[in-house]
Amino acid sequence: MINTYQTSVAAPPVPPRLSRSQQVLFPAPSQGHSKSLLRFLTGVVVLHLFLSVGGFIYLKQNDTMHPSQLPSAEGKTAHRSSGKQETSNKALARMVVKKSDQKGAGYLEWDMGHSVLKSVSYSHKMWLTIEQPGDYYVYSRVTFSKLDPKRPLVSIVKLRESEKGKEKTVMQAFCNMDSSGAPQLSTATQGELVTLEKGNQLGVWLHNLSVVSYEDGATTFGIFRL
Ligand SMILES: *[C@@H]1O[C@H](CO)[C@@H](O)[C@H](O)[C@H]1NC(C)=O
Repeated sequence: MINTYQTSVAAPPVPPRLSRSQQVLFPAPSQGHSKSLLRFLTGVVVLHLFLSVGGFIYLKQNDTMHPSQLPSAEGKTAHRSSGKQETSNKALARMVVKKSDQKGAGYLEWDMGHSVLKSVSYSHKMWLTIEQPGDYYVYSRVTFSKLDPKRPLVSIVKLRESEKGKEKTVMQAFCNMDSSGAPQLSTATQGELVTLEKGNQLGVWLHNLSVVSYEDGATTFGIFRL
């Protein structure tokens, strides 16, 4: 009995402690402090609001500008930007055919005024010479404007290991057109992954240069290091 009475007597001091802790949480001890705290908190809330709205508008704009890119998120964009940095010093060649009156079999000649070469050189008016060894994607597109009476239409990409090396076929592509005599065009396109050493040379060889079309962009040759 005495014990329970004592505890109920000891109870009253507890409420003040509670109210004191409440005072610390809400109205701060001094008025000056509470005002600056309130200003600070308001500032944080307003800043947060601005950042959220700004971020939302930014995302919304991106969404409307590149709808296809949005789902790819950060992973792909990071890949792309790092890829760009790498490709800036990678070897490549994009060749534009040079109009020529050449007849018979031979290599296509390229127009150096319009072709693009990076760490690849051009030799003997027909060969692309490799300076950086590595794996390359090699492609060609040759458009023919006439039938060759003797052979199927074919474009052949040839490789020689060096200036004095023997030429060998890397790839070839064929196409056809009917012999009705009406003006026609036909294109042979090809692409291949080729491992190349420094000094290797590549060219596009045709059985008959007088059947090539020189229409803009119709006949081209290129390589790029992967
Ligand atoms: C090349 O093609 C032209 C036009 O079709 C033809 O007249 C000529 O005989 C061909 N030349 C050779 C060497 O096959």
